[in-house]
Amino acid sequence: MGEEKVYALRDISLDVYRYETLCLLGTSGSGKSTLLNVMAGLDRPSSGQIVIDGRLHLEKLSEQELTKFRQYNVGFVFQSYNLIPTLSALENVCLGLTFKGIPKKEREEAAKDILNKVGLGDRMNHRPKEMSGGQQQRVSIARAFVDAPPILFADEPTGNLDTKTSIEVMELMKEMANTHKQTLIIVTHDLETADYADRIIEMRDGKIIRDENVGNRKDIL
Ligand SMILES: Nc1ncnc2c1ncn2[C@@H]1O[C@H](COP(=O)(O)OP(=O)(O)O)[C@@H](O)[C@H]1O
Ligand SMILES: [Mg+2]
Repeated sequence: MGEEKVYALRDISLDVYRYETLCLLGTSGSGKSTLLNVMAGLDRPSSGQIVIDGRLHLEKLSEQELTKFRQYNVGFVFQSYNLIPTLSALENVCLGLTFKGIPKKEREEAAKDILNKVGLGDRMNHRPKEMSGGQQQRVSIARAFVDAPPILFADEPTGNLDTKTSIEVMELMKEMANTHKQTLIIVTHDLETADYADRIIEMRDGKIIRDENVGNRKDIL
């Protein structure tokens, strides 16, 4: 940043286990989003390694390979939903499948199915601005989970939602991740959201200051 060098992450060493729900907890500026983006192949670390499944080194991939990696392996849920405003709920959920070359009929069936599961069966043709924040986040959850990627990243997924809606959104993500045996990595500054995790990683000034199993993990193996 200008003349000043900001170390967003320092000396991070972290193993994430398959099927776990991991929470990155910390105050604003502690490095949570940077760590999430690095793990998801959205950002590159200046040094170090990110190894997926014990063999795939993200730091060695080209931009094109990273795009492919994300397309087939990860889903994202963001604080501000990041839906395309001109597309309906159904079209937003279908879009990623279109890029993967899945035929229209098949992708619409998959999108309708998951929109029903997130409770938006009657909102499929609505655009984002015609929906509440909670409904928009459900659409973005449907989009992230529609083809059940092995890893789900959520950056402050409840950051713009009221308490009741936050609980609904977290229950929904947790249930989907359990059903499909997905690894869920959630960034939050909020202890109530962290309550859904099997394991809490607390960050401060770009470092991990706590790594604790909190025992929420159901036996899903
Ligand atoms: N693009 C950037 N350029 C410079 N500094 C940045 C950039 N992105 C984040 N930072 C800094 O890195 C640190 C960690 O940021 P971030 O990962 O966004 O934290 P969090 O998600 O925990 O709020 C902060 O000090 C932030 O100001
Ligand atoms: Mg952040």
